[in-house]
This record gives sequence, C-alpha cells and structure tokens, in this order.
Amino acid sequence: MKILVTGGCGFIGSNFIRHMFKVHGDAVSIVNLDKLTYAGRPENLSGVDAPPRYRFVHGDICDPDAVREAMRDADTVVNFAAETHVDRSILGPDSFLRTDIMGVFVLLEEALKRNVSRFIQISTDEVYGECLKGSFDEEATLNPRSPYAASKTGGDRLACSYFHTYGAPVIITRASNNYGPYQYPEKLIPLFVTNAIEDKPLPVYGDGLQVRDWLYVEDHCRAIDLLLQCGVPGEVYNVGGGNEQVNLDITRRILRLLGKPETLIQHVKDRPAHDRRYSVDFAKIRALGYAPAADFDALLAATVHWYRDHAEWWGPIKSGEFQTYYKTQYGKRL
Ligand code: NAD
Ligand code: TYD
Repeated sequence: MKILVTGGCGFIGSNFIRHMFKVHGDAVSIVNLDKLTYAGRPENLSGVDAPPRYRFVHGDICDPDAVREAMRDADTVVNFAAETHVDRSILGPDSFLRTDIMGVFVLLEEALKRNVSRFIQISTDEVYGECLKGSFDEEATLNPRSPYAASKTGGDRLACSYFHTYGAPVIITRASNNYGPYQYPEKLIPLFVTNAIEDKPLPVYGDGLQVRDWLYVEDHCRAIDLLLQCGVPGEVYNVGGGNEQVNLDITRRILRLLGKPETLIQHVKDRPAHDRRYSVDFAKIRALGYAPAADFDALLAATVHWYRDHAEWWGPIKSGEFQTYYKTQYGKRL
C-alpha cells in the first residue's frame, strides 16, 4: 500500500502512522501531508522512518498543488486533516468550513484524477448530534449542532456524493471520542490531566453529567486498518469504544490516578449547544472482526501516566499559542 495520510502530525494521524509501520513494516509506504496548524506537531512522529518508507509534505489540503504533489504516488488516501475542536469552532468557524469541507473537496477531486483504489474519510459520531437514548446506527438522521460537527457533516456527505456520482472508492468512518498519547491538551482528557498535574482547576462544563463513548486511539487505528483491507466502498462505518462514561466520573478518576484533590474540580458556564450524550451502534464493523479493547481502567491509567511522564511534550505546547486560546475560552469562566 502507498498511502497518503493527511493530518499525520495530529493526534490520531500520528498514532495511525506508527500503527501502520508497526503492523505492516515494509509493506506500506506513507506520505504525510500536514499544514502544521497549532494542532500539528512534527514531534508526534519522532523516531518514524526517513525516506523511502516515509515522506513528509508540508502543505494545506485546500491547496490543489500541494495535494497533487503529495498524492502523486498514492493508491490509498486516509483523510484525518481537519480542524477538530468544538470550542474553537464556536469561537471561529471559518477555518472549519475551509478545511473540513473545501479541503475534502480538493482531496476528492485529485483522488478521482489519480484513480486511487481507496479513500477513507475520517468523519465523526458528532454528525449524528446528541443521542438521548439508545445508540445511532449508520442509517440514523444526521443532526450536527456545532460548527465543527456541521463542517464534518459537509465533508462526510460530500465524500459520499463522490461515491454515488463519480464512483470514487470512498469509505466513511464515524468514530466516537478518542483518547491516548499525543492528544493536543485542549480536549477533555489531556487538558484535565495536565491541569491536575499543574494543580490548576479542571473546568467542567455545566453539571458535568454529559456522556461520551471513549475509544482508545489504537483501537481506532486498528479499525481503519481493517477497513483498508475489507471495508466496502460507499459504506459508512461507526467505530465505537463500547465505553460510555459521564464526564464527572472521568474527571474524578483522573484526579484519583494522580493523587490530586477533588477541590480542583470547578463547574463553569456550559458550552453552547452542548450535546448531552453520544452513542453509536457499531455492529456493522464488529461483523468485520473489529472489537475495542475491554479494559478502560488500565488504558485510562496508561494514558494519564503517559502525560505525567511526557511533560516535555505538552509543557511547550501549553506555554505557546495555547495561552491565548485558554484565556479566551476559560478566562471569563474560571
Ligand atoms: P488533531 O486536531 O489532533 O490533528 C489535526 C491535524 O490536521 C493536525 O496535524 C493539523 O496540522 C492538520 N491539519 C489541519 N488543517 C489542515 C489543512 N488544511 N491541511 C493539512 N493539514 C491540516 O485532530 P485528531 O483528533 O487527530 O482528529 C483527526 C481526525 O479524526 C479529524 O478528521 C477528526 O474530525 C476525526 N475524529 C477525531 C476524534 C477525536 O476524538 N479526536 C473522534 C472522531 C473523529
Ligand atoms: P471534548 O474533548 O472537547 O470532545 P467533544 O466535545 O468533541 O466530545 O469534550 C468532551 C466532553 O468534555 C464534552 O462533553 C465537553 C466536556 N468538556 C468539559 O466539561 N470541559 C472542558 O474544558 C472540555 C475541553 C470539555
């Protein structure tokens, strides 16, 4: 396989590149096209091979020239590149519409010209909107409620339209909330772990009783790898963790794992249009052989310990652009 991975310097993309080299060795070569936004960290891939197995292209998925250059030898595309944080999409949706919709368009156009054999569009369970009871399967109505989710829905549906209209070999994944190493510390788990380490307050939105289904990032990578082997073009696959947790429970576990007091918890003004619960039915990918890891306690502990042991990774991140973002997002709340 000659894979173009986009957004490979981000959280899931970098874990995916490591996964593919670990599992497939020399049978894969990867080009990583990444714009290196605030979330793109080349250090996430430190130790990953030099050419010819691995090549990095610094560029934007909205730029047809960069995309042409990066896709020139690819037979497979896996599109992780996106603006990904709901809170930032509320503060400024423009870049979300650009990358998460227009970027997908540019990639699809080039993929058609190149006649690639697989195009995996990494979508999200957030396209379904909140799920107050039961679980959504792939046929459920889409009801995105944040600019992030709406932009991802645009990319998701555009990719699907390229399958139906032009026969592009598109497969769409809709995964639940990922956790694990190398996640930018704006998302719940790494933000709360690193704040707790620094004895800073953990800003819990509203009552903290929202529910998310936590998926270990390595499970997500295995699911994508499986779909590269036996996913059916034109199909959508939910990827769940089978592990629904209330935000406040996760918060308390993190504090316990770090030996920090619950007085660090601070309930703050809620996020607008905060989806109460996400839940996906992932029987369809289970039928292909996917199963998520069972041991959430152990994986959460391993994740918390990874951040505890890698302050040299998140320390510089939290002292840079992050400070401005944090003030804007939490300044009035805390
Ligand atoms: P991330 O924010 O950690 O990384 C995004 C990466 O994309 C960064 O390396 C960034 O530099 C790059 N990028 C952004 N805009 C770009 C552009 N215009 N051109 C090229 N590169 C660009 O994101 P993540 O958490 O790793 O998420 C990866 C994908 O998975 C996204 O599509 C996201 O919507 C999806 N997803 C994430 C989760 C989750 O819990 N993190 C769950 C389901 C789906
Ligand atoms: P997040 O990691 O932003 O993922 P998403 O919104 O895409 O699910 O948030 C996960 C949950 O944690 C969500 O219910 C919002 C909540 N949350 C807080 O309570 N406080 C915070 O500071 C953050 C970042 C999230």
